[in-house]
Amino acid sequence: MNSRPSGNERMVITIDGPAGTGKTSVAHQLAERLELDSLDTGAMYRAVALRTIIKQVDPSDVDGIALAARQIELDFDWSSNPPALLVDGVPVGQRIREEDVDDRVSVVAGNPQVRGRMVRAQRSIAAKHPRLVTEGRDQGSVVFPDAQFRFYLDASPEVRANRRVLQSRSSGQSADYDEVLRSIRNRDRRDETRTDGPLKVPEGATTLDTSELSLETVVDRLVELVLATSPGVTGVSG
Ligand code: DC
Repeated sequence: MNSRPSGNERMVITIDGPAGTGKTSVAHQLAERLELDSLDTGAMYRAVALRTIIKQVDPSDVDGIALAARQIELDFDWSSNPPALLVDGVPVGQRIREEDVDDRVSVVAGNPQVRGRMVRAQRSIAAKHPRLVTEGRDQGSVVFPDAQFRFYLDASPEVRANRRVLQSRSSGQSADYDEVLRSIRNRDRRDETRTDGPLKVPEGATTLDTSELSLETVVDRLVELVLATSPGVTGVSG
Protein backbone atom coordinates (compact mmCIF):
# COMPACT_ATOMS: atom_id res chain seq x y z
CA MET A 1 0.00 0.00 0.00
CA ASN A 2 1.17 3.51 -0.72
CA SER A 3 1.14 6.22 1.91
CA ARG A 4 0.99 9.85 1.21
CA PRO A 5 1.50 12.89 3.29
CA SER A 6 -1.98 14.31 3.64
CA GLY A 7 -3.58 17.15 1.75
CA ASN A 8 -2.71 18.86 -1.48
CA GLU A 9 -0.36 21.41 0.01
CA ARG A 10 3.12 21.96 -1.39
CA MET A 11 5.48 19.15 -0.49
CA VAL A 12 8.98 19.39 -1.92
CA ILE A 13 11.57 16.76 -1.03
CA THR A 14 15.13 17.30 -2.26
CA ILE A 15 17.77 14.61 -2.70
CA ASP A 16 21.31 15.70 -3.43
CA GLY A 17 24.60 13.87 -3.59
CA PRO A 18 27.41 12.79 -5.89
CA ALA A 19 27.10 10.53 -8.97
CA GLY A 20 26.40 6.87 -8.33
CA THR A 21 24.64 7.16 -4.98
CA GLY A 22 21.39 5.96 -6.50
CA LYS A 23 19.66 9.34 -6.27
CA THR A 24 17.65 8.97 -9.45
CA SER A 25 16.23 5.55 -8.57
CA VAL A 26 15.70 6.54 -4.94
CA ALA A 27 13.91 9.76 -5.91
CA HIS A 28 11.70 7.91 -8.36
CA GLN A 29 10.74 5.17 -5.90
CA LEU A 30 10.25 7.59 -3.03
CA ALA A 31 7.94 9.66 -5.24
CA GLU A 32 5.97 6.56 -6.16
CA ARG A 33 5.59 5.50 -2.54
CA LEU A 34 4.44 8.95 -1.46
CA GLU A 35 2.43 9.62 -4.62
CA LEU A 36 4.50 12.65 -5.57
CA ASP A 37 6.03 13.64 -8.90
CA SER A 38 9.76 13.14 -9.46
CA LEU A 39 12.30 15.36 -11.18
CA ASP A 40 15.74 14.28 -12.46
CA THR A 41 17.63 17.59 -12.76
CA GLY A 42 20.86 15.90 -13.88
CA ALA A 43 19.01 14.89 -17.06
CA MET A 44 18.46 18.59 -17.81
CA TYR A 45 22.20 19.37 -17.58
CA ARG A 46 22.92 16.27 -19.62
CA ALA A 47 20.57 17.43 -22.36
CA VAL A 48 22.40 20.76 -22.60
CA ALA A 49 25.74 18.90 -22.67
CA LEU A 50 24.47 16.70 -25.50
CA ARG A 51 23.37 19.78 -27.43
CA THR A 52 26.88 21.28 -27.14
CA ILE A 53 28.33 18.02 -28.47
CA ILE A 54 25.91 17.93 -31.41
CA LYS A 55 26.53 21.62 -32.17
CA GLN A 56 30.29 21.05 -31.82
CA VAL A 57 30.64 23.80 -29.24
CA ASP A 58 34.16 23.83 -27.84
CA PRO A 59 34.13 22.90 -24.11
CA SER A 60 36.11 26.08 -23.35
CA ASP A 61 33.58 28.29 -25.19
CA VAL A 62 31.67 29.72 -22.20
CA ASP A 63 29.34 31.86 -24.33
CA GLY A 64 28.70 29.06 -26.81
CA ILE A 65 27.66 26.74 -23.96
CA ALA A 66 25.37 29.42 -22.49
CA LEU A 67 23.83 29.97 -25.93
CA ALA A 68 23.14 26.23 -26.30
CA ALA A 69 21.28 26.35 -22.97
CA ARG A 70 19.21 29.33 -24.11
CA GLN A 71 18.28 27.71 -27.40
CA ILE A 72 17.19 24.37 -26.01
CA GLU A 73 13.60 23.81 -24.89
CA LEU A 74 13.38 21.32 -22.04
CA ASP A 75 10.18 19.76 -20.86
CA PHE A 76 9.05 16.50 -19.30
CA ASP A 77 6.35 14.08 -20.38
CA TRP A 78 4.66 13.67 -16.98
CA SER A 79 2.41 10.90 -18.32
CA SER A 80 5.35 8.48 -18.52
CA ASN A 81 6.87 6.87 -15.46
CA PRO A 82 9.47 8.15 -14.64
CA PRO A 83 8.75 11.42 -16.45
CA ALA A 84 10.62 11.40 -19.79
CA LEU A 85 12.78 14.36 -20.71
CA LEU A 86 11.72 16.06 -23.95
CA VAL A 87 14.24 18.16 -25.83
CA ASP A 88 12.48 20.52 -28.22
CA GLY A 89 9.44 18.26 -27.81
CA VAL A 90 11.27 15.00 -28.62
CA PRO A 91 12.10 12.29 -26.02
CA VAL A 92 15.87 12.16 -25.64
CA GLY A 93 15.99 8.64 -24.15
CA GLN A 94 19.25 7.04 -23.04
CA ARG A 95 21.48 9.06 -25.37
CA ILE A 96 22.15 11.53 -22.51
CA ARG A 97 23.64 8.67 -20.42
CA GLU A 98 26.45 7.88 -22.86
CA GLU A 99 30.14 8.40 -22.14
CA ASP A 100 30.66 11.53 -24.27
CA VAL A 101 27.87 13.24 -22.29
CA ASP A 102 29.36 11.98 -18.98
CA ASP A 103 32.66 13.58 -19.96
CA ARG A 104 31.14 16.89 -21.08
CA VAL A 105 28.44 17.48 -18.50
CA SER A 106 30.35 18.89 -15.55
CA VAL A 107 31.91 21.64 -17.69
CA VAL A 108 28.42 22.54 -18.86
CA ALA A 109 27.03 22.35 -15.32
CA GLY A 110 29.82 24.68 -14.14
CA ASN A 111 28.63 27.45 -16.46
CA PRO A 112 26.82 30.07 -14.33
CA GLN A 113 24.45 31.07 -17.15
CA VAL A 114 23.45 27.46 -17.70
CA ARG A 115 22.88 27.04 -13.97
CA GLY A 116 20.77 30.19 -13.77
CA ARG A 117 18.57 28.93 -16.55
CA MET A 118 18.21 25.44 -15.08
CA VAL A 119 17.42 26.78 -11.61
CA ARG A 120 14.63 28.95 -13.03
CA ALA A 121 13.29 26.03 -15.08
CA GLN A 122 13.29 23.76 -12.00
CA ARG A 123 11.44 26.31 -9.88
CA SER A 124 8.89 26.79 -12.61
CA ILE A 125 8.41 22.99 -12.83
CA ALA A 126 7.84 22.93 -9.05
CA ALA A 127 5.25 25.69 -9.39
CA LYS A 128 3.26 23.39 -11.68
CA HIS A 129 4.15 20.20 -9.76
CA PRO A 130 4.19 21.38 -6.15
CA ARG A 131 4.27 17.85 -4.75
CA LEU A 132 7.68 16.83 -5.92
CA VAL A 133 10.76 14.76 -5.16
CA THR A 134 13.63 16.48 -6.95
CA GLU A 135 17.19 15.22 -7.14
CA GLY A 136 20.52 16.71 -8.19
CA ARG A 137 23.46 18.53 -6.63
CA ASP A 138 21.98 21.87 -5.56
CA GLN A 139 18.32 21.14 -5.00
CA GLY A 140 18.33 21.55 -1.22
CA SER A 141 21.12 24.14 -1.06
CA VAL A 142 20.17 26.56 -3.86
CA VAL A 143 16.98 25.71 -5.72
CA PHE A 144 14.62 24.72 -2.89
CA PRO A 145 16.28 25.71 0.42
CA ASP A 146 12.75 25.89 1.87
CA ALA A 147 11.92 22.27 0.92
CA GLN A 148 10.07 20.36 3.64
CA PHE A 149 12.66 17.56 3.49
CA ARG A 150 16.28 17.81 2.38
CA PHE A 151 18.27 14.60 2.00
CA TYR A 152 21.89 14.04 1.03
CA LEU A 153 22.96 10.60 -0.21
CA ASP A 154 26.61 9.63 -0.13
CA ALA A 155 28.76 6.54 -0.80
CA SER A 156 32.45 5.85 -1.29
CA PRO A 157 33.84 6.51 -4.81
CA GLU A 158 34.73 2.81 -5.13
CA VAL A 159 31.19 1.66 -4.35
CA ARG A 160 29.76 4.23 -6.74
CA ALA A 161 32.15 3.18 -9.52
CA ASN A 162 31.22 -0.44 -9.00
CA ARG A 163 27.51 0.39 -9.22
CA ARG A 164 28.05 2.33 -12.46
CA VAL A 165 30.00 -0.57 -14.00
CA LEU A 166 27.24 -3.06 -13.11
CA GLN A 167 24.60 -0.65 -14.43
CA SER A 168 26.44 -0.18 -17.74
CA ARG A 169 27.03 -3.89 -18.18
CA SER A 170 23.42 -4.75 -17.41
CA SER A 171 22.37 -2.41 -20.19
CA GLY A 172 24.81 -4.09 -22.61
CA GLN A 173 27.51 -1.40 -22.52
CA SER A 174 31.13 -2.24 -21.75
CA ALA A 175 32.68 -0.44 -18.78
CA ASP A 176 36.15 -0.46 -17.28
CA TYR A 177 36.18 -0.10 -13.48
CA ASP A 178 39.38 2.01 -13.28
CA GLU A 179 38.18 4.31 -16.02
CA VAL A 180 34.77 4.76 -14.35
CA LEU A 181 36.41 5.42 -10.95
CA ARG A 182 38.68 8.05 -12.49
CA SER A 183 35.74 9.73 -14.20
CA ILE A 184 33.68 9.73 -10.97
CA ARG A 185 36.56 11.31 -9.02
CA ASN A 186 37.03 13.98 -11.69
CA ARG A 187 33.34 14.76 -11.77
CA ASP A 188 33.16 14.93 -7.93
CA ARG A 189 36.05 17.37 -7.89
CA ARG A 190 34.50 19.60 -10.55
CA ASP A 191 31.03 19.45 -8.95
CA GLU A 192 32.41 20.28 -5.49
CA THR A 193 34.77 23.08 -6.48
CA ARG A 194 32.65 25.16 -8.86
CA THR A 195 31.69 28.56 -7.50
CA ASP A 196 28.06 28.45 -8.56
CA GLY A 197 25.83 25.79 -6.96
CA PRO A 198 28.65 23.48 -5.82
CA LEU A 199 27.82 20.00 -4.57
CA LYS A 200 27.53 20.24 -0.79
CA VAL A 201 25.37 19.02 2.04
CA PRO A 202 22.44 21.47 2.25
CA GLU A 203 21.86 23.18 5.57
CA GLY A 204 19.56 21.10 7.74
CA ALA A 205 19.79 18.06 5.42
CA THR A 206 19.70 14.47 6.63
CA THR A 207 22.70 12.56 5.26
CA LEU A 208 22.56 8.85 4.48
CA ASP A 209 25.63 6.82 3.52
CA THR A 210 24.30 4.27 1.05
CA SER A 211 27.59 2.32 0.60
CA GLU A 212 26.26 -0.70 2.48
CA LEU A 213 22.56 -0.23 1.81
CA SER A 214 20.31 -1.64 -0.88
CA LEU A 215 18.09 0.67 -2.90
CA GLU A 216 15.03 -0.70 -1.10
CA THR A 217 16.53 0.00 2.32
CA VAL A 218 17.41 3.58 1.37
CA VAL A 219 13.89 4.20 0.08
CA ASP A 220 12.36 2.60 3.20
CA ARG A 221 14.44 4.86 5.45
CA LEU A 222 13.47 8.00 3.59
CA VAL A 223 9.79 7.02 3.56
CA GLU A 224 9.98 6.47 7.34
CA LEU A 225 11.64 9.84 7.90
CA VAL A 226 9.03 11.66 5.83
CA LEU A 227 6.05 9.87 7.32
CA ALA A 228 7.34 10.31 10.87
CA THR A 229 7.00 14.07 10.56
CA SER A 230 4.08 14.38 8.13
CA PRO A 231 0.69 14.59 9.78
CA GLY A 232 -2.40 12.70 8.71
CA VAL A 233 -0.76 9.68 7.10
CA THR A 234 -3.04 6.68 7.02
CA GLY A 235 -0.92 3.73 5.92
CA VAL A 236 2.58 2.32 6.07
CA SER A 237 4.32 1.66 2.78
CA GLY A 238 6.21 -1.48 2.01
O1 DC B 1 23.07 13.15 -11.58
P1 DC B 1 23.72 13.11 -12.94
O2 DC B 1 24.97 12.25 -12.99
O3 DC B 1 22.80 12.75 -14.05
O4 DC B 1 24.19 14.61 -13.21
C1 DC B 1 24.87 14.98 -14.37
C2 DC B 1 25.77 16.16 -14.11
O5 DC B 1 24.99 17.33 -13.90
C3 DC B 1 26.74 16.05 -12.95
O6 DC B 1 28.06 16.33 -13.40
C4 DC B 1 26.33 17.11 -11.98
C5 DC B 1 25.43 18.02 -12.76
N1 DC B 1 24.27 18.44 -11.99
C6 DC B 1 24.33 19.66 -11.37
O7 DC B 1 25.36 20.33 -11.44
N2 DC B 1 23.25 20.11 -10.69
C7 DC B 1 22.13 19.38 -10.61
N3 DC B 1 21.09 19.85 -9.95
C8 DC B 1 22.07 18.11 -11.22
C9 DC B 1 23.18 17.67 -11.91
